[in-house]
Amino acid sequence: MTDTSLYAARRARLAAALGTDGIAIVPTAPERSRNRDSDFPYRHDSYFYYLTGFTEPNAWLVLTGEGRSTLFCAPKDLEREIWDGYRLGPDAAPQALGVDEAVSVAELDSRLPRLLENRGAVWYPFATHAGLETRIDGWLAKVRARVRLGALCPEQQRDLCGPLDEMRLVKDAHELALLRRAGQISAQAHVRAMQACARLLRAGEDVREYHLEAELLHEFRRHGAQFPAYTSIVAAGANACVLHYRADAAPVRAGELVLIDAGCEYEGYAGDITRSFPADGRFTGPQRALYELVLASQNAAVAVTRAGSRFNDPHEATVRVLAQGLLDLGLLDAAKVGSAQDVIEQRAYFPFYMHRTGHWLGMDVHDCGSYVEPSEAGQARERRDPLSGEIVQDRPSRILRPGMVTTIEPGLYVRPAEGVPERFWNIGIRIEDDAIVTEEGCELVTRGVPVEADEIEALMRP
Ligand code: GLY
Ligand code: MN
Ligand code: MN
Repeated sequence: MTDTSLYAARRARLAAALGTDGIAIVPTAPERSRNRDSDFPYRHDSYFYYLTGFTEPNAWLVLTGEGRSTLFCAPKDLEREIWDGYRLGPDAAPQALGVDEAVSVAELDSRLPRLLENRGAVWYPFATHAGLETRIDGWLAKVRARVRLGALCPEQQRDLCGPLDEMRLVKDAHELALLRRAGQISAQAHVRAMQACARLLRAGEDVREYHLEAELLHEFRRHGAQFPAYTSIVAAGANACVLHYRADAAPVRAGELVLIDAGCEYEGYAGDITRSFPADGRFTGPQRALYELVLASQNAAVAVTRAGSRFNDPHEATVRVLAQGLLDLGLLDAAKVGSAQDVIEQRAYFPFYMHRTGHWLGMDVHDCGSYVEPSEAGQARERRDPLSGEIVQDRPSRILRPGMVTTIEPGLYVRPAEGVPERFWNIGIRIEDDAIVTEEGCELVTRGVPVEADEIEALMRP
């Protein structure tokens, strides 16, 4: 399948979900000013790209329920192209992108009311583009001004995220290939950062977190990845216990662990990997004990990641292993918190493990898609959270299907606290891999960088 037919097939699937009297409006992302004449690097909107494969800014897709696609895009303009770069332009767009028609974006306001006229429902992504609702209101007002002439105004506004999120949740072969590549490049970058860290320390250099970030970025770009998929976390020593730490300037010291959470975006698809490794290539005893526990919990999660499992199953498997391990290592005192089952029920593990074990991964690092099984969404169960005391509603979590992609990322973060053995203080460990769900299990696409403690030590040796 050529690229344009891939996007045409996605548009056809979406059109079928709109109903024949429906119409969808999908803008791409705006350009964002950083300051004065400098913009942030441009990144297209993921929904728009999924339906068009088009990465230029200032573009909109309009799709009717009958499947007719109109692209609004920046017109050719020699002067602007000299300053800002090449534009595809409306004349070339139908051939290049496979859309039925393309028009200058300057005609958006004049064309949209006529396109919306006599439609039953207008679909657009809710709460994702600032000001979109106001623009649609303006176009609908223009349609309403023509009702005395016999025009019908759409009676429904519907959230396009619903059907599009369902489509994006199960990745097609093209997407899976790109996710594999993003995973490979990201893994190579982790290997490079680990090896550079040990090498620089051996050479007696003053190693900083940003030096390791530079290794990651070089490896991403060297392989053609466009961006980091999110701001890289390079956390030395105690900084690893700050979940949203960024790469900064802290010294990386022998004897401490480094936590790197980083992945590239390759052709619009994200890698998301975390590794925790000893800066000088040798785990200390307490570091290794905690590391082996997190790894065992990840193995338990991987073992239940397969079609037919629930999205929550890997998290629950992780927590079972961590709860028992925290008791065994003396981070939790059985005399105070009871058995592993009590630890789970009372969420007594929470001071050490306060995030979930995974999230959908795709074009967005925290990708779209409901975590609740749609056919069971009505089956809410109320319970009181043991820590906050709040009433929360649990709904049956999503049943995994082949082609869904999730991260598996357990961790332990030990801050200094009374009753916590001092040898574990300030150790933060997370191990994160990206998993494609298959019929029999899952394919880990990020294992180009090892996870076994011995293999990490071997990788970092001279
Ligand atoms: N890197 C973001 C996450 O792991 O969720
Ligand atoms: Mn993640
Ligand atoms: Mn991550």
